[in-house]
Amino acid sequence: MELLTSLVIMLVLVPCFESLPGVRAQSTATSPGSSSTREEAKALDALLQQYAYRALVNPKTGTIYNATHLPSNLSGIEVAALRLRSGSLRRKGFHPYNEFEIPKGLIGRQYVERLVLVYQNLGNRSSRYYPLTNYTHLAPVLGLLAYDGSNLSASNLSELDIDASDGPILVKFRAVKLVPHGAVAKCVWFDLQGSSNFSDVTGGNTCSSFQPGHFSIVVKSTAPPAPTPASPPKRGPSPSAQGKGEKENKKVWIIVGSVVGGLVLLVLLSLLVLWMRKYKQKKKMQQMERAAELGEPLQMASIGDTKAPAATVTRTQPTLEHEYAP
Ligand SMILES: *[C@@H]1O[C@H](CO)[C@@H](O)[C@H](O)[C@H]1NC(C)=O
Ligand SMILES: *[C@@H]1O[C@H](CO)[C@@H](O)[C@H](O)[C@H]1NC(C)=O
Ligand SMILES: *[C@@H]1O[C@H](CO)[C@@H](O)[C@H](O)[C@H]1NC(C)=O
Ligand SMILES: *[C@@H]1O[C@H](CO)[C@@H](O)[C@H](O)[C@H]1NC(C)=O
Ligand SMILES: *[C@@H]1O[C@H](CO)[C@@H](O)[C@H](O)[C@H]1NC(C)=O
Ligand SMILES: *[C@@H]1O[C@H](CO)[C@@H](O)[C@H](O)[C@H]1NC(C)=O
Ligand SMILES: *[C@@H]1O[C@H](CO)[C@@H](O)[C@H](O)[C@H]1NC(C)=O
Repeated sequence: MELLTSLVIMLVLVPCFESLPGVRAQSTATSPGSSSTREEAKALDALLQQYAYRALVNPKTGTIYNATHLPSNLSGIEVAALRLRSGSLRRKGFHPYNEFEIPKGLIGRQYVERLVLVYQNLGNRSSRYYPLTNYTHLAPVLGLLAYDGSNLSASNLSELDIDASDGPILVKFRAVKLVPHGAVAKCVWFDLQGSSNFSDVTGGNTCSSFQPGHFSIVVKSTAPPAPTPASPPKRGPSPSAQGKGEKENKKVWIIVGSVVGGLVLLVLLSLLVLWMRKYKQKKKMQQMERAAELGEPLQMASIGDTKAPAATVTRTQPTLEHEYAP
């Protein structure tokens, strides 16, 4: 009986949970990547370059320095700086640089003796500076930008163009959000001009690129209608996410209401069943106790609903006595 009860509860609950991601995914919408967000992202790069360079006080070559004291309107963003000789970078690469693995064979289009690689993790501000229409970020935007490292007090530097000739730069994202059911995660790379290019994710969290820039993992945010096998047949076209907010809301409430109502009913039913079982047991116990108190010497046998004493041992059978005539 308990098994049956839990089975029924599961049958009621499973379709309810399955339909939840679909409901949640409808609220995601990104603003189009306008030219003003591009300007803001460029300004942010310039600002973060300054904070990164400030962390380089008497820097050792090949050591990662974290920028601290970012202003409060940039909280949640992480910045680091790494100063290298161009020749060393070309011969050996550098890995790991936080999430980045930089291969050997990097060639700058402009010659500089030393360069600084600035690392950015835009954290919860990723979609503000790098919005993608119809896509949702599953990982923060990470930036890797190269600058001339000859003057560490310089600002307003322009990024160096770099090409990886020996193999791609790898980005191994640390915390990638779960890919929604049925969706495919994509790597996105924003080049120094801000144009984006998509590629496949490898190993669940790795993106690759032959040039520096900004990277993230994204997924198409248009949610496919959640398939609910237990639902009644659909009427007309499946509702799209747009313009039917109120109708959708009503539907959600109806679902929630019926699930809660069903649950309450189930709990009441199982309580009733439990109580009935207990009552039966109690009655049986009472009967047995009564029987014990009477101390009946004879075993009781039930015949239908009534009980009657029953003898178990048969008496000695009468036998004829044979008389022997002498
Ligand atoms: C710099 O920040 C990274 C996280 O971005 C952290 O893992 C590392 O320990 C920090 N390094 C220092 C020296 O604080
Ligand atoms: C942060 O605030 C400072 C003033 O405190 C301002 O100059 C700067 O532009 C702001 N940066 C961003 C990214 O909003
Ligand atoms: C980002 O997170 C930081 C804390 O890590 C918080 O102070 C800040 O307000 C958040 N910013 C946004 C835009 O959510
Ligand atoms: C975003 O999706 C809508 C509807 O699905 C479509 O009309 C629009 O063209 C898409 N925008 C981009 C930039 O792909
Ligand atoms: C480095 O840059 C700062 C700021 O632009 C400038 O004032 C300084 O003269 C520069 N130093 C050298 C050695 O070029
Ligand atoms: C930054 O440099 C560009 C040229 O590379 C120049 O046009 C611009 O005025 C400079 N901005 C500042 C604030 O120095
Ligand atoms: C985007 O990436 C693909 C493959 O990585 C490449 O063939 C294509 O040229 C790239 N497009 C741009 C605009 O960089």
